[in-house]
Amino acid sequence: MGAVRHLYVHLPFCAHRCGYCDFVTVVGRGEQHGSYVDALLAELELEGRVLAERVETVFLGGGTPTFTHPTELERLLRALPETEELTVEANPETVTLELAELLRDGGANRVSLGAQSFRPHLLSVLERHAGPDDVRRAVHTLRDAGFDNVSLDLLYGIPGQSIADLDADLADALALEPEHLSCYELEAKPGTRFTHAHGDELERQAEAMEDYFERVVDRLTAAGYRWYETANFCLEPERTGGRDLRARHNLAYWWGRDYLGIGVGAVSTVDGVRRRNLPGLGRYVDALGAGRRPPCETEALGDETRERERLLLGLRLDQPLPVAAVDRVLDRAAAERLELRGLVELTGRNGDVAVRLTARGRFLGGGVTAELLA
Ligand SMILES: C[S@@+](CC[C@H](N)C(=O)[O-])C[C@H]1O[C@@H](n2cnc3c(N)ncnc32)[C@H](O)[C@@H]1O
Ligand code: SF4
Repeated sequence: MGAVRHLYVHLPFCAHRCGYCDFVTVVGRGEQHGSYVDALLAELELEGRVLAERVETVFLGGGTPTFTHPTELERLLRALPETEELTVEANPETVTLELAELLRDGGANRVSLGAQSFRPHLLSVLERHAGPDDVRRAVHTLRDAGFDNVSLDLLYGIPGQSIADLDADLADALALEPEHLSCYELEAKPGTRFTHAHGDELERQAEAMEDYFERVVDRLTAAGYRWYETANFCLEPERTGGRDLRARHNLAYWWGRDYLGIGVGAVSTVDGVRRRNLPGLGRYVDALGAGRRPPCETEALGDETRERERLLLGLRLDQPLPVAAVDRVLDRAAAERLELRGLVELTGRNGDVAVRLTARGRFLGGGVTAELLA
């Protein structure tokens, strides 16, 4: 029995490929869903010994996990270890009452719904299949099935978006009273079809990004959400009878804890080694079908690399990061300078000093963090 308490499971299938998406996905392939789940279960069998007896969180990400054939999704859910938080990513158009009940009966207690926007013209730029009403219907259906922890993903910086569009998206999302919201800046990879099609407009959006970000934070914090991570917000405990609604699985990652990832393209970090399964569905399924580990690349993470990651990720959070955990990579003199400029806060004394970014520091984000790196 190992000590890893967090498990990520990658389900790569999607109904179609959205232009901006850079995740490991494959379109359709209904006939391969069964053999893929077989492979996942074989990989879990091979690697599962690193898992602790008590697995705290499981995250089914994609791709579109809820596009996976229901029989196969059910089989997978039933084979996963028991856990305290089981999140499933879902696309709105896939959420029927049957699916919501299948997820619930399979142990899911959190659903992360990819809304992206509520404006039809922006959804069309993103090549999304779901319209605004599909998002609303999906949330209501999840509620009907008993889900009391629903997260919505929103994107900003979409070609054609205005500040009024963003305000309207935030208002529409808030009207659904989600427990959690993830608001991401749209990243467009150079050289993709999407970037080619929207180049000039993406440049204009890039200039507005800081304003969008501040707007998102102001609006959501004013509505009673805790800005607990750069792009993530959850209802304040006083609005939910004391529940801490931060995404526990993601917190584990931001805290630098070990996690096991299974599936094509999945990443694991265990005992100072990062392993990344390579993309390519066929060779992933074939290897595991033959009882072998899938093709992967591994990287040994030295202490300094781990501390560097811990600092970069830890400063995204609203909670102070113990300096002792990042001693070799934190430039203390820079931290003190930035504290005087109101961008960093140092708390505690002697061996218990901790560091975090102030709200202003968090808005500036990457630049401040870069200065803090020794
Ligand atoms: C791995 S995707 C899968 C979710 C689901 N298939 C969907 O499309 O809603 C998880 C989230 O990543 C975000 N995302 C995907 N591509 C992105 C990009 N190019 N830039 C920023 N965020 C992105 C979206 O908000 C999406 O909901
Ligand atoms: S549905 Fe989600 S995972 Fe699939 S291509 Fe679109 S954004 Fe990517």
